[in-house]
Amino acid sequence: MLVVLQRNQDEVGRQAARMISGAVRRNPFVRLGLATGATMVGVYRELVRLHREEHLDFARVVTFNLDEYLGIPPSHPQSFHSLMQQHFFSHVNIPRNSIHIPDGTITRDYDAYCEGYEQAIRDAGGIDLQLLGIGRNGHIGFNEPMSSLGSRTRIKELSAETIEDSRKAFGPQEMPQCAITVGIGTILETRRVLLLATGAFKADAIAKSIEGPVSASVTASALQLHRDVTFLVDEEAGSLLTQKPYYEHVLKMTQALMPERLS
Ligand code: F6R
Repeated sequence: MLVVLQRNQDEVGRQAARMISGAVRRNPFVRLGLATGATMVGVYRELVRLHREEHLDFARVVTFNLDEYLGIPPSHPQSFHSLMQQHFFSHVNIPRNSIHIPDGTITRDYDAYCEGYEQAIRDAGGIDLQLLGIGRNGHIGFNEPMSSLGSRTRIKELSAETIEDSRKAFGPQEMPQCAITVGIGTILETRRVLLLATGAFKADAIAKSIEGPVSASVTASALQLHRDVTFLVDEEAGSLLTQKPYYEHVLKMTQALMPERLS
């Protein structure tokens, strides 16, 4: 695990975009796993800038989003389809048929649909780089506490914390109670993971995920089992970590010996 401590949200976003753009330039056919949420807005903003100003070409990139609320259409302003469109897809040149986002409008045959999503990931060759945010309860994707650490794409009931956090965006409108999400097992099979966290309200989840025991109570802690994971955290989100001098030492050595891991 590589833990990179940054000063603030802007730095986290820029560093993530640098690593994603490096992956795209090294392999124009790269398969990206994408996330939504407030933390990701700065990452997409920077990727759009790199596309416009520095010719970052997404023409052959394939993407799979992690999750979508169940029960709302893609055109709903709070759907992850809309948010991806607004912040990223409408500004870059990823072909429409290379973009995959779970369909929140399905009303039956959930297992078959979710297995189809897993199959599409496998058919594409698996995910090379998975971008993740983290919920304040430690969820990744919508793998809420007590999700199986071997889980696959499926319907997941949202926890009380997640509903409370998402309600801010939905306002007085009815809030979905479930989502379709790729599983922890799916995430653990990706080749490389980049998890971003900013803000003091993520500090507890980050400390437990990085330094706590591997536990379904904090599903991000399963990333301790991943072979190539980088946590990009700002000062506030990293404030409860106890091993910061060691992370800084590891980072310095990585920059000297394997700089490609940060680009
Ligand atoms: C969204 C997702 C979620 C978010 C997490 C953090 O696609 O997978 O796990 O990454 O809830 O959301 P923000 O960044 O809004 O705090």
